[in-house]
Amino acid sequence: AITDVQVGIDKIDFYTPNHYLDLVDLAQARGVDPNKYLIGIGQSKMSVAALDQDIVAMGANAAEPMLTEADRQEIGLLVVATESGIDQSKAAALFVQDLLGLTNNLRAIEIKEACYGATAGLQLACDYVRSHPGRKALVIASDIARYGLDTPGEVTQGAGSVAMLVACDPGIIAIEPESLYESRSTGDFWRPNYSAEAFARGKFSEEVYVGMFEGLWNKARKQGMARPESLQALLFHIPFSKMGRKGLRTLGDGTITEADYERLTERFERSIVYGREVGNIYTGSVYLALISLLENDESLNPGDRIGLFSYGSGSVAELYFATLMPGYRARLEPQRHQALLESRERLSLTEYEAMFSAKLVTDGSEQEIKHSDCRDDAPHYLAGMKGHERQYR
Ligand code: HMG
Repeated sequence: AITDVQVGIDKIDFYTPNHYLDLVDLAQARGVDPNKYLIGIGQSKMSVAALDQDIVAMGANAAEPMLTEADRQEIGLLVVATESGIDQSKAAALFVQDLLGLTNNLRAIEIKEACYGATAGLQLACDYVRSHPGRKALVIASDIARYGLDTPGEVTQGAGSVAMLVACDPGIIAIEPESLYESRSTGDFWRPNYSAEAFARGKFSEEVYVGMFEGLWNKARKQGMARPESLQALLFHIPFSKMGRKGLRTLGDGTITEADYERLTERFERSIVYGREVGNIYTGSVYLALISLLENDESLNPGDRIGLFSYGSGSVAELYFATLMPGYRARLEPQRHQALLESRERLSLTEYEAMFSAKLVTDGSEQEIKHSDCRDDAPHYLAGMKGHERQYR
């Protein structure tokens, strides 16, 4: 039967732009104790995207290094999940398809539901592969988190993409078809069409996040899906690392044994290593946490079961489970990812504010955009604007 086939993430990779702001510099400029950012929020740096690294360029850069020619031929579904859309009509996936040299024999779509979009895309991709076993699906989560200069959310900005290839007999994790989800209209975070920055009811958004996690966790416990002793790790959507920690802490008050809580806490620390450096990448955040866990933890083994909690404001949440596949370590690239993070250039506060404020033309005139990231493994960029259309290279 189709449901007996194991389906999940066969390959995974990420990209983040080559500029960052150190959050101690931000704290000093905003007159805040640096420990508020480093400990209270739990972040160290945030990636900053120059104009040429929009969500299409970043998404293509995330997927490029991992795709073989055979993958390109077999991809029948391409999903780009984003809440930083570049067009109201045309799917970002169509630009990405072109840049990656994929075939025309595929469905290319864009999905939006705040930070939850990539999980919707991933589940859709798993269903697609289950019903089209010879084919693969590419899911790209790509976002630039913007709240505005000198706002409470500023410290939780970031930029980056995660690319995931979904296939039968996957190389990294097999995803269980049964999961728990909930949708409920809330006004915790939103971005109207006229605004380049998001609006948030910060504290309320934290409450909704934690409430939805607790609701799904308790349901999963009742249904026997979330026996803590069977879980080697629990991953969270990480808008900033303290948020995931707050989710995890709800399990620490007697809900699970001390030993289980300690194990999940240790693994949680590994899952936030990359996110602390990159910042919130919205749709990709929980998947960056997955890469961070797998590349920074020496103690996990094939066969281990992990849980993933995905949350998107507005709000949709999903709790699902997956099993690590034999040989998963060979599919990871910790050295290259470490180099990607370390090779970024540190911006001064003035440079960050200028980069944050730079804009594309909106009147149809021609604009040339400077190529900001010349690293060999990041070939794609937005080269300019012409007649209201984006020109990629
Ligand atoms: P704030 O006003 O800076 O909050 O906003 P605060 O003053 O309460 O400080 C934050 C924490 O720092 C507190 O700890 C302080 O005690 C601590 P907490 O009570 O939270 O544990 N603190 C210190 N710690 C050590 N040393 C010090 C110190 N000073 C203070 N000296 C807020 C913070 C997160 C609300 C704000 O940044 C914000 O609005 N962010 C954007 C919204 C957000 O990220 N919400 C998260 C849940 S919603 C979500 O995850 C979805 C999202 O990704 C969007 C999507 O789905 O698309 C956002």
